[in-house]
Amino acid sequence: MDIISSLTDMQSRCLAERAAGKRIAFVPTMGFLHEGHASLLREGRRRGDVLALSIFVNPTQFGPSEDLDRYPRDLERDLAIARDAGVDLVWTPTPAQVYPPGYATWVNVEGLTDVLCGASRPGHFRGVTTVVCKLFNVVQPNVALFGEKDFQQLAVIRRMTADLDLPVEVVGMPIVREADGLALSSRNVYLSADERRQALAIPSALARARALAAAGERDGAAVLREVRAMIEAMPDARIDYVQICHRATLAGQARIDADSVLLLAVFVGRTRLIDNGPLLAGA
Ligand code: PAJ
Repeated sequence: MDIISSLTDMQSRCLAERAAGKRIAFVPTMGFLHEGHASLLREGRRRGDVLALSIFVNPTQFGPSEDLDRYPRDLERDLAIARDAGVDLVWTPTPAQVYPPGYATWVNVEGLTDVLCGASRPGHFRGVTTVVCKLFNVVQPNVALFGEKDFQQLAVIRRMTADLDLPVEVVGMPIVREADGLALSSRNVYLSADERRQALAIPSALARARALAAAGERDGAAVLREVRAMIEAMPDARIDYVQICHRATLAGQARIDADSVLLLAVFVGRTRLIDNGPLLAGA
């Protein structure tokens, strides 16, 4: 496994691999890797001759009052997980390389970024799409893997890739959860033991919503009422949003159908957690 920090070294290495006819699979991350990231890496290993991982805590996707400074980092552990997953190239650029003095270019997907996390975190998706576009330009992947955990991010990246004619296949991967249902997230380390217990209301509410839909409930408002009540029963939980949306357009849906996804963002203490899932089995 090669660990590369220089942007130009990474780009010339990847261009050389492509010129040699190799298929590059790419998993972009912000590090502090867990089993969710590892599942992307394993699928990438299957899909490419060369498996590339980037670890970059991207400053431009954090708002001024967000957790950029305290975002968890552990490069040694990340490298061990990467090695286990069969990564060939690890790229660890610095903010100064990615955004040198005078940097002035942004990629912005309209519409899809106005809702959900885009409404709560102004500028967040502009930072995500800008960095992912730049990472693609350096790594030149044939295929890039993203988790459905960040459902809106995946939709926005698919839109950007199509709109900008980027020659990259974008693959979405299922959410990896703890045994008790909590979606894995680098941010889960922020939770105290008590907050960790309260956070289980999120997967429980998702399961309850799916059970209601399976029993024939099609009224979105009725499902959202139950979901809200379950989360609001937790003393340290505060709902940012709970919405039922069409899985491709992210438009809000009053009636539940096979395309409906329930999306949640909930603060548990100071930690903002997101989760989502389809409402009808097989959707
Ligand atoms: P990060 O939060 O590190 O996540 C990297 C990738 O891992 C994303 O595609 C995310 O959806 C996926 N992932 C995270 N938790 C997961 C889980 N429990 N199950 C499955 N996949 C999971 O998302 C980002 O970084 C950044 O926004 C990035 C795309 C790297 C741009 O900076």
